[in-house]
Amino acid sequence: MKQTYFDAVVIGAGAAGLFCGAQIGQAGHSVCVIDHMNRPAEKVRISGGGRCNFTNIHTRADRFLSENPHFAKSALARYTPSDFCDLLARHGITWHEKTLGQLFCDGKSTAVVTMLLDELSAGGGDLRLGLNVTNVSACADGFQIETGHGPMSARWLVIASGGLSIPKIGASAFAYDLAAKFGHRLVSTRPGLVPFTFTDGLKARFADLAGVSADATVSAGPARFEEALLFTHRGLSGPAVLQASSYWHPGEEITINLLARNASPLRSAKQDTPRTTLGAHLSTFLPSRLSGALVELMDLPGQTRLGDLPDQKLAGAETKLSSWALKPAGTEGWRTAEVTVGGVSTGDLSSKTMESRHVNGLFFIGECVDVTGWLGGYNFQWAWASAQAAATEIAGRITAN
Ligand code: FDA
Repeated sequence: MKQTYFDAVVIGAGAAGLFCGAQIGQAGHSVCVIDHMNRPAEKVRISGGGRCNFTNIHTRADRFLSENPHFAKSALARYTPSDFCDLLARHGITWHEKTLGQLFCDGKSTAVVTMLLDELSAGGGDLRLGLNVTNVSACADGFQIETGHGPMSARWLVIASGGLSIPKIGASAFAYDLAAKFGHRLVSTRPGLVPFTFTDGLKARFADLAGVSADATVSAGPARFEEALLFTHRGLSGPAVLQASSYWHPGEEITINLLARNASPLRSAKQDTPRTTLGAHLSTFLPSRLSGALVELMDLPGQTRLGDLPDQKLAGAETKLSSWALKPAGTEGWRTAEVTVGGVSTGDLSSKTMESRHVNGLFFIGECVDVTGWLGGYNFQWAWASAQAAATEIAGRITAN
């Protein structure tokens, strides 16, 4: 007969849940990690284009969105990117920095999944996949967890069931429903790190540009990101756009600066290459299909030589190219979003331990919490760090009891 009592049960066998279960088990306590899907850590497997961007060496609290911008500090300080690199090294997993501090595996991301499962096994942790949790209730000595295969109980309960992005690989609102049931406030959720979609008019106008990318600064609300922008069949993507999407709210405009890496290029180009047309000059730093489309859209004198254009006209063109305001129709939504912005309110959790302020022994970790990282490995670093914070607390309290 299968064991039904554990010191700790973790719901969600993703990045945070497996890591947390491994730490609790390795501290010598019984732990069971449950997932309703048949495969664990699917997001780790598909992450980073199959090479898992597992952390970012520039991790610090201002790379995360949250109602409380200080909340993530404590956990992030106590489990750092180099701690995770040390763990990878112990498993013989090699890595490289791609760009902007983003660390990727040299090989496949499945090596990280295997590592997490091996770590769980090393601590004697139980893993139960394809198991639905139908109800959770608090009782005098912990929690009663009703599942499709009968009840389980545990002194400590960790919710690591993630956010809402990509439902077809297991995302569900489980964490939010449970948090609300136990009296936690929810910060309203929206898709983050997600491509924008165009209105029909814009879509028709940019249909030929699908696949074209350019360096740009993309701004949404208070945030500005200078990276690549990519036109898609439906709208805009690329790192700068994905980053900005986490700060965007429906109905707002985004602003694109296509001159970001070419300060005042038109008037200085007039001095340097007066016989070059404006259109040809734009094509020296933008893909020619894009510069052609911009000349048309922004009504620029593309065929006129720079030397024949008055400075005032060039200044006007610079303004248009550096503050191109676009109103997206929306985003591609949960189907393709990499993360969920919002979630279980940090006001109802301890930043040191991730424990609920309302229910003793109940913890929330990873993406279900209202802490959302930028693109580039920050979200996994939050998963590891918040998992470690909860596991350390649970292991310490079991030992103390
Ligand atoms: P995660 O989503 O990993 O795990 C939650 C688990 O809970 C899942 O296994 C799910 O099946 C399970 N679950 C859900 N509902 C349940 C229920 N009712 N009962 C039981 N189990 C349930 N981040 C990063 O830092 N670097 C990167 O390279 C990428 N790349 C990337 C690519 C893509 C395509 C996506 C969608 C996302 C990323 N991310 C990323 C984001 C990253 O994957 C994400 O932030 C972490 O996986 C979050 O870890 P969690 O463990 O909190 O949730």
